[in-house]
Amino acid sequence: MLTPAQRDIVKSTVPLLETGGEALTTHFYGLLFRDHPEVRPLFNQAHQASGDQPRALAHGVLMYARHIDELQALGPLVQQIVQKHAALQVLPEHYPLVGDSLLRAIREVLGPEIATDAVIDAWAAAYGMLADLLIGAEAAVYDQKAAAPGGWRGARPFRVARKQRESAEITSFYLEPVDRGPLLDFEPGQYLGLRLVVDGQEIRRNYSLSAAPNGHYYRISVKRAEGGVASNHLHDVVQVGDVLEVFPPAGDFRLADSHRPIALISGGVGITPTLAMLDAVLASPGDRPVYFIHCARNAEVHAFRADVDALAARHARLRVFYCYEQHDEDEGDGAPHAIGRIDRERLAAWLPADRDLDAYFLGPKPFMAQVRRDLRALGVPDAQARYEFFGPAAALE
Ligand SMILES: Cc1cc2nc3c(=O)[nH]c(=O)nc-3n(C[C@H](O)[C@H](O)[C@H](O)COP(=O)(O)OP(=O)(O)OC[C@H]3O[C@@H](n4cnc5c(N)ncnc54)[C@H](O)[C@@H]3O)c2cc1C
Ligand code: HEM
Repeated sequence: MLTPAQRDIVKSTVPLLETGGEALTTHFYGLLFRDHPEVRPLFNQAHQASGDQPRALAHGVLMYARHIDELQALGPLVQQIVQKHAALQVLPEHYPLVGDSLLRAIREVLGPEIATDAVIDAWAAAYGMLADLLIGAEAAVYDQKAAAPGGWRGARPFRVARKQRESAEITSFYLEPVDRGPLLDFEPGQYLGLRLVVDGQEIRRNYSLSAAPNGHYYRISVKRAEGGVASNHLHDVVQVGDVLEVFPPAGDFRLADSHRPIALISGGVGITPTLAMLDAVLASPGDRPVYFIHCARNAEVHAFRADVDALAARHARLRVFYCYEQHDEDEGDGAPHAIGRIDRERLAAWLPADRDLDAYFLGPKPFMAQVRRDLRALGVPDAQARYEFFGPAAALE
């Protein structure tokens, strides 16, 4: 339990973390992977190299220190961390390892003058409190998924039943449980965790479910990332009939309970969760209007166009708009609705005049930042503009 004096010490380190938080977490990850290599497979090393993951953790720690007196204010952040942890199977036994490296990093980065025994003790108590909170919340998620119909705990083997090329760089994988048992439903927008072994090394990655729940299979759709370990392995090595280890669906990017018109706005492979959302909304009764806006570099890399066009032909309430960065007029069929990048004028023209709508968007970070700014400028309330990151969460401002 934290004493009032320890709370004060933790709060007093906020300004220090604000300026040096990232250096601290970068050092922390160095120590963690050196001293506890068994946790390395859980982390995507590309997120370490880009600095995104240290930044996300620094943000988490900072928010925590700031709100140490009112932890309920952290609710949404805690839920986001819990979902990410659950999808990668962070377990209680991992927490002491992370705590050990974090305290050591604080000691080494701040130096003996600032990181006195009292400071370290305060942070040890604070970390213990936060760890207990997360362990408890994660245990509840694991228990709930294990107990639900078709649910399971940890990794479950799934066979690749079908592999489907969707564009020059995106391929879908249809996954059926090897045990042929029932399949846990999920919320459109959620994602799976995969545990793969590539060249003898274990790695874990998340992939959004790109088709609504159907009780038979899960579908994920993977973009080949240049030099990417998991995506190239999936594209080139994994074949129909192969078995993959899958963690249960998780994630807090979900459709809100609402009857407002809905805008699904995606860039590139960010289309995947919006497809599951699209399926779900169109399957629901009523005539809720849907605006599906997709941006791609060009027609070659535009995935699922035929599928979405077929839905638009069947559902009058679905309006579809495509925006390509480049398009050759000579290509004939398949012209987009706009050429160039998405911008405020295009969104203004494509979305309904009454901006009281629910928007869901996902794509590369600059795309997301632009969409967020434009939706705000067009009068879509922030609380109705929801998004997900295909990597560590980051500020969009
Ligand atoms: C919630 C969520 C949902 C997702 N859904 C999808 C989805 O539906 N479809 C999809 O395709 N992806 C999705 N992703 C992304 C996916 O999890 C992987 O990050 C993606 O497939 C890339 O993984 P990889 O192993 O192929 O590449 P990585 O090996 O992780 O590499 C990624 C990139 O970083 C570069 N890189 C790697 N290491 C370094 C280094 N040390 N220094 C510099 N550069 C480096 C690589 O060359 C590559 O270009 C999702 C991610 C999240 C978090
Ligand atoms: C109190 C302790 C912890 C805090 C405050 C914390 C916080 C966070 C935060 C803020 C994120 C980013 C979430 C996002 O991107 O949306 C994250 C991701 C993650 N955490 Fe934790 N975490 C803690 C403990 C742990 C432990 C014990 C492990 C297991 C070794 C772990 C493994 C991970 C992994 C694997 C990710 C995703 C990394 C990636 O994208 O590559 N965390 N955590």
